[in-house]
Formats: sequence, structure tokens, C-alpha cells
Amino acid sequence: MELDWLLAPPLPEAMPRQRVLYLRLRDAILSGRLAPGTPLPASRSLAASLKIARNTVLFAYEQLVAEGCLLADRQGTRVAPLPERSVAPSGGEASAVSLQLSARAAAALQPEPAREAAALPFAPGTPDYGAFPFRSWRASLERAWRDAGWRQLGYAAHGGDPALREAIAGHLTTVRGLAVDAAQIVITSGTQAALDLCARLLADHGDTVWAENPGYLAARVAFNLAGLRVHDVPVDSEGLAPNEDDWSKHPPRLIMITPSHQYPTGRVMSLPRRLALIEQARRSGAWIIEDDYDSEFRRAGPAPPALFGLQADAPVVYVGTFSKTLYPGLRLGYLVLPHAIATDFARATTQATRAGQGIEQRTLADFIQRGYYTSHLRSMRARYAARQAALRTALREAFGSSLELSGGEAGLHLVLWLPDSIRDSDVVKRAAALGLGVRALSSYTRAPMTCNGLVIGYGNLEEGMLAEAVRRLVAAVQAEDRQRRED
Ligand SMILES: Cc1ncc(COP(=O)(O)O)c(C=O)c1O
Repeated sequence: MELDWLLAPPLPEAMPRQRVLYLRLRDAILSGRLAPGTPLPASRSLAASLKIARNTVLFAYEQLVAEGCLLADRQGTRVAPLPERSVAPSGGEASAVSLQLSARAAAALQPEPAREAAALPFAPGTPDYGAFPFRSWRASLERAWRDAGWRQLGYAAHGGDPALREAIAGHLTTVRGLAVDAAQIVITSGTQAALDLCARLLADHGDTVWAENPGYLAARVAFNLAGLRVHDVPVDSEGLAPNEDDWSKHPPRLIMITPSHQYPTGRVMSLPRRLALIEQARRSGAWIIEDDYDSEFRRAGPAPPALFGLQADAPVVYVGTFSKTLYPGLRLGYLVLPHAIATDFARATTQATRAGQGIEQRTLADFIQRGYYTSHLRSMRARYAARQAALRTALREAFGSSLELSGGEAGLHLVLWLPDSIRDSDVVKRAAALGLGVRALSSYTRAPMTCNGLVIGYGNLEEGMLAEAVRRLVAAVQAEDRQRRED
């Protein structure tokens, strides 16, 4: 049999011959080029014809025998009778058909935005990385490693590190006015993991979840992937505004809201709306998921009361994250749960997600306990407030009295509303070409609702960049305006 092709050039550089021979033989067997039952030459004669050492052939043969691709007995070595389906048809077309995601996943996943967009000026959702308290964090990290034992190296404790749960409960009680205890806190790998847990533990496949419109896109992904039906409910100036039809025709099992600073419009849900929502959710057997992702950076006065703390035994789950207050790559957040379900959620983190990050959890507990977290929040609050004020002034100077800004009560972004004559998505394209990461409000919005504006993040905007970034944004808006007039 002609087997010269087994070591024909080009040979991969730095790969031993025996490995090349093994891989090429295996590919030939799995692709059907060498059919089941085909006898192979004795090792000595194959070595002679390929002009290599016999041991090289022996290595490849033995490896393939061990894997079940070859059979070796007194009659010699031959290709094993592999099951029909393990032989891939040549051409690879059948693979393209079968190697597919589930229909649910294919529909749920969003096209990936440009990766570097998050680091560009005006990209929403990004904290000021330059102001991260590296020294105090490193000190907490070193203490966590110094005191680390088997508990920190293994899977996380039921519901998360006890000291961290305790520290978060204390922080929420004093800073957010939520009277909660550590047993109600479950540590998660950020909001996304918390939403995923809620979708799977509080709803059944096919149940309806209400999403804010416009709203947070990543939440939709989590819900769709969990097999839930997402029903869009409009947001008005007081927050989520469901009507009778929403309640009667699309009864929710879950209601996902960002009441303290609606994402992306930045509106704050009024107290009557909060109370009405709790009442109606209670009546229709729905859970409210309260995503409180950036109320730590409240501009004036304390944050509005969380739905979670408004009424005893309300069907509310509160979600917090350290992505904005520290950094998103930390992947730490938490759920605050009614006692009735807190232990079940803690069980789920051990059984469903196999939580870890023991060292990071310890570090964060130390960071909070020593007061570093509170002082970091204080200084960031002042920094973001000053930055927002400077941004407002610059935008007002550039756009004059026609400017309509909203959403500045908290957080790290503002919304600049555009007149209907200028399409936000076109401005965003122009702005991206100028190196800006602003997002179109319409990209968060589902029909028939329409919104036209720019979501402008200022969290990671270096001080020196502000004037230049505003200049480019104005150029993008004006160019689009000119183009529209000419059309
Ligand atoms: C509405 C909203 N919730 C939560 C988060 C944080 O998500 P995570 O904790 O998964 O980083 C973000 C981040 O941009 C957000 O915009």
C-alpha cells in the first residue's frame, strides 16, 4: 500500500515525527480515507519506506491501538471497525448542519459589539478605571491570600463567603436603608449570573418575563436563554408603565426593573408606581427583580427607597453589583432575598453554578469591613458628580437651549434626546468613526415604542478628554443634521 503521504511535506515545525505520523493516521482513519479493516504494513516495513526509525512507527501504532482506532493481533495491524457515525463525511457539509446552537440560543444571543467600544470615551456602563483604589485593594488582597485556607481555594461556601455576606448586609443597612441580615444575601458572579439564577429558580420554561422598554439588553439574553418569553412593557417618566392588557394578556411570572435609575433612560420610578407594582405583582403571583446597579452614585440626596424594603414579604428580589463601584471584571454581585427563598438560592449557587472566587470574596469582605469601600464610594460620587456637571455645561454650550438632557440623578451616564429629524443610530455611526463609544437609545428600544437619543457614558472619561470628546460628538450630530437637510 502506498503510504508516502503520511509524512509528505509540509510538516508542522517543531512537532516530533511520531506525533505527525499519529495525527495523520488518525485523521485518515476518522475521515474514512483508511476504511475499517484496511491492513497496515508491519512497523518495520513502514519505517523503511518512510525512512524513519521503527520506534517512531511503533509509537503511532500503539497510541492508535490504545485509542481503539487500530487493532493489532497475530495477523498484524489493521483499521478498527469504527461505528458508522464516527466517520465524518468528506466535504464537511453535514457538520455545518449538525454543529448548531439551540434555536433558543441562536435567537437570544446579540451580535457582538466592537470589543474595544467599552473603552472609548462616552461608552456607557464603564466606571473610572484610573481612579480604582489599587493600593488599598492590593492590601486587602494580600491579607486574603495570607489568611487563605482550604475554604478559599475550594468551591465557595453555601451562598458565598460568610464574612462578605455579613459585610454586604451591614453596608446595605447603613447606606441603603435596607434592614437585611446576612442570611438573605447570596453572592453571585455579578448581575448577569443573578438574573440567570432568578430566571431558572423563580420561573418555569415558557413563563413570561416583563422587560423594560427601552431596557437592559443583557437581561433579555439571560431570560431568553432560560427559555422565558420576554414581553416588553413601556417606560414613561415615572418608570415601568404597564396597562391592563399587559396584566391580563401577558401575565408575568417575573418583572425585571431598574427603578432607582432606569437603564438606559435614567428615569426614577415614583413611589406610587413602586407601591402599585408591588401590589399588582402580589395579586398576579409575579416576582419583581429589582436591579439596583448604580444607585450608589446618587447626585442629590439619598437614593429612592428600594422596592425590596418597602413592604414586608413583598415578592421582590434585589440585585446588586460591584461592577460599577469597583470594576466589572471582578465579577462579584449579590442577591438580597426574602427569607422564604434565601436558603434555596444559596443551595442553588452550590449545586447549579458551583460558585468560587473565595479569595476575591475574602478580599472584598476585608475591603468593606475596613471602610475602604465607603470612602471609595464617597470620593467616586464626588468625582462623577463633577464630571457630569462639566459634561452638562459643555453640552449646553455646544447645543444651546434646544438641548434636552435627562437621567442625571444617579449613575454614570446621561441621555441626550435628539429631534426626530436626526436618527440616533446614524449619529452613533459617525461618532464611532470619530472614536466615541456613545450608544443609540433606539438600540435599547423595541417596536412599537420609539426613542431617539444618545446614551452618553462619562464614567471612564478622562478629565482632559472631555472637551475634545464633546467637540467630536457635536461634529457628529451636526454632520448628520446637515446630511438630513440636504437629503
Ligand atoms: C442595567 C444594568 N444592570 C447591571 C449591570 C451590571 O452587570 P454585571 O453585574 O453583570 O456586570 C449593568 C452594566 O452595564 C447594567 O447596565
